[in-house]
Amino acid sequence: GESVIELFQLPKAELHLHIEGTLEPGLAFELAHRNRVTLPFGSVEDLASRYRFENLRGFLDLYYTTMAVLRTEDDFADLARAYLGRAKAQGVRHAEVFFDLQAHLRRGVPAEAVVDGLSAALAEAEHDAGITGGLILCFLRDLPVADADAALTAAMPRVDRLLGVGLDSAELGHPPGPFAPVFRRAREAGLRAVAHAGEEAPAAYIQEALDTLGVERVDHGIRAVDDPRLIERLVTGRVPLTVCPLSNVRLKTVGSLREHPLPELMDLGVVVTVNSDDPAYFGGYVADNFLALSREAGLTLRAAERLARNSIAASFVTPGRAASLI
Ligand code: ADE
Ligand code: ZN
Repeated sequence: GESVIELFQLPKAELHLHIEGTLEPGLAFELAHRNRVTLPFGSVEDLASRYRFENLRGFLDLYYTTMAVLRTEDDFADLARAYLGRAKAQGVRHAEVFFDLQAHLRRGVPAEAVVDGLSAALAEAEHDAGITGGLILCFLRDLPVADADAALTAAMPRVDRLLGVGLDSAELGHPPGPFAPVFRRAREAGLRAVAHAGEEAPAAYIQEALDTLGVERVDHGIRAVDDPRLIERLVTGRVPLTVCPLSNVRLKTVGSLREHPLPELMDLGVVVTVNSDDPAYFGGYVADNFLALSREAGLTLRAAERLARNSIAASFVTPGRAASLI
């Protein structure tokens, strides 16, 4: 109905989107063929049938396996072009895009190929569709800190093309604190900082990310609901959370959308945003997340408008650009 159209057309910023998580099965097979990479799946249908996960680790295993088809600058440009085309249809006016550089470096792909390919697609989207964006290099927290440090060094020739750094991959048992020196170096190079925290690990990881990494936003952050003092800190400091509802259900960190803490976080006064995380894997892009919340968790159009406005306020655009987005 009419409200579906409105949810799709609401001007949004997408702030929690892993570009490798936009790799649809069809494009994965196309790139495998182009690059003569053999995927351990028989067909597009076979790959698509594996998109059922028990937890974050199970998803990550498939995600890192499938991204092996990404080899060249053109591959990264094609991947980001496909995402930005879909994002436009979902009302995205600005996208701050994560990429997992370490996963590509270890396959021998140069940092320049990754960054130049993604940047080319972002520049095209700005020119052709008025969508602005930026790149956020995420460190893999389940690899040694020295590996993250080496990735930052590898990216330094392209630091002017980067907006920020983040922290992702398997969270439990990999707290943020040890990454403080790498984040400090990134911030000294002029980069913004965000981190995944409180997705599958407890609220203490969110606290630690704020205390040690100098992050300006928390990715996921849903476990903050368990800690009233942390909620007060997020509200007072206006620290945004980039929440990913369909992801949380698919990775079983939340039982269902009806039980999702998003409405409670909003009611408590936290600056909440809605994002798609890895949309090719989790059954929907960002407006699909809004729609699922409205159908299954009673999200009103007013609340959706607030979430969309929050996303623009929580983005790293200048106030002038933010005003033009609303
Ligand atoms: N990498 C890609 N998606 C992720 C998620 N939801 N959590 C942690 N690392 C990720
Ligand atoms: Zn994520």
